[in-house]
Amino acid sequence: MVRSSLFAIGLVLAFFALSCSPAFGDTVETTFRVANLTANRLCQNQVISAVNGTLPGPALTVKEGDTVIVHVINNSPYNVTIHWHGVFQRLTQWADGPEFVTQCPIRPGGNYTYRFNLTGQVGTLWWHAHSQWLRATVHGALIIRPRDGQNYPFAQPDLEDTIMLGEWWNADPNDVENAALANGSAPANADAYTINGWPGDLFNSCQSISNNTYRLNVAPGQTILLRIINVALNNQFFFKIANHSFTVVAIDAAYTNPYQTDVIVIGPGQTTDVLLTANQSQGLYYMAAHPYVSAVLPILNTNITTAILVYPNATQTTPILPDLPAFNDTPTAHTFLTNLTALTTSPFWSPVPQTVDENMFITFGLGLSDCGANLSCGGLFFERMAASMNNLSFALPTSVSILEAFYRNISGVYTTDFPDQPPTVFDYTNISNSFDQNLLMTNKSTSLKRLRFNSTVQIVLQNTALIGVENHPMHLHGFNFYVLAQGFGNYDAANATSMFNMVNPQERNTLGVPVGGWAVIRFRANNPGVWFFHCHLEVHLPWGLGMAFLVENGGTPESTLPPPPADFPQC
Ligand code: C2O
Repeated sequence: MVRSSLFAIGLVLAFFALSCSPAFGDTVETTFRVANLTANRLCQNQVISAVNGTLPGPALTVKEGDTVIVHVINNSPYNVTIHWHGVFQRLTQWADGPEFVTQCPIRPGGNYTYRFNLTGQVGTLWWHAHSQWLRATVHGALIIRPRDGQNYPFAQPDLEDTIMLGEWWNADPNDVENAALANGSAPANADAYTINGWPGDLFNSCQSISNNTYRLNVAPGQTILLRIINVALNNQFFFKIANHSFTVVAIDAAYTNPYQTDVIVIGPGQTTDVLLTANQSQGLYYMAAHPYVSAVLPILNTNITTAILVYPNATQTTPILPDLPAFNDTPTAHTFLTNLTALTTSPFWSPVPQTVDENMFITFGLGLSDCGANLSCGGLFFERMAASMNNLSFALPTSVSILEAFYRNISGVYTTDFPDQPPTVFDYTNISNSFDQNLLMTNKSTSLKRLRFNSTVQIVLQNTALIGVENHPMHLHGFNFYVLAQGFGNYDAANATSMFNMVNPQERNTLGVPVGGWAVIRFRANNPGVWFFHCHLEVHLPWGLGMAFLVENGGTPESTLPPPPADFPQC
């Protein structure tokens, strides 16, 4: 009796210590005011939505273990939500942010406070609006440094800086999206690519070079930790710095084995941390990026965005420009993306689950949905452009979020019948099927896959060639996943299984599934809630390239989603 009650007290104390461990970190509290901002780019003024009057928005810099509190005040004319891309949100899913998935948007004039903890994650993440196309201009870095007393698994850099690769429209991005959705056509491509909000010297500019181009000052011999984030809506990028090379040390806030390269490939949503040594003669060197275009499409905007690496006492006036790979250089992209491996000595590494409870095979890509009575839609065959996973085209609810519907047992909002296999087996990546009207049509639904708490999930992600082949950056909320293997063509289990890296596979929250190819990912569903899994190309998301996982509560307090906060936005 005495013994068992002591044991019970011990358990209670252990739980108390666990649930209170965030309190050992600091609390970082700030306010994000979203409002109109007139920005001048490409020689013209454009009204955009921005946080605290800056583009990019403010960086949040914290330490591992800290608690973050962000009061978001919406003074913009649009609905707003903020997503903390890559943050696990253990038991704080009400703060995850995707509109109508976890929350109703913050209406104009409204506000909401996001609270979450950053335990078990170190590196570079970012935050962005998760409502319509607002994230084009509503985004910023989320930098998580090691907690006091812990170090990077590499020599302390002399300098750290953040490089955000983005896009710019001479328009309000929400107008661009709405115009395309109104008639079912594809939206306009960006007018410029940007580094830290600036197109750079090689785009048409009427301002002096120094005002229009981001500059990073370095001293000879310094080692710089460069945190590269792709904040673009619709483009992957190749990134280089003239005469310099990089050592990749982390991706998506997960440490990697050091990987030497002179080119970075990065898709929307991804982050890549590299070490750069200022070991060249004093001068000016362009950092440069242009898209990696995997689809067979005319390239609409071939300009290069630039920033400048500036050594002291440089005498030249024109920086040296690096040679970027060709737009369609898939071999270079694939070499980079498949050679990254996890650093298994990282304190945050956990081994790959060896067994699989849920085996899924998901085909995904473009398609069409019915234009309706109006037969003049702007997509192929006069239908509406669409996209799907296992031929279901994801539609967001409009009256309540999926998470709230789950929590409050509201029926009619979603179903849990997302299939483990595609409805039709065909030669998925054969481009002779690209325009087969029997395969292109897809229906809208809000279909989820239900998972038991702590179950292990393996997904074969199979790109299709429907309408066209393309590399899609697939992003999973709430988890990192292991990338066991990737390849081209149709997935073939007999050959692929022997390629699985079970030892040190890269861990990511966003993976560019190879163009006309496949990837195998695995994760443990140890986080209760509703987690969006979608293409991070903003052109494809409203077309329906997404689904969501519903992870059940685990039956203990520390595996059960608490109630929503008092100020949770209502629809
Ligand atoms: Cu960075 Cu659901 O997105």
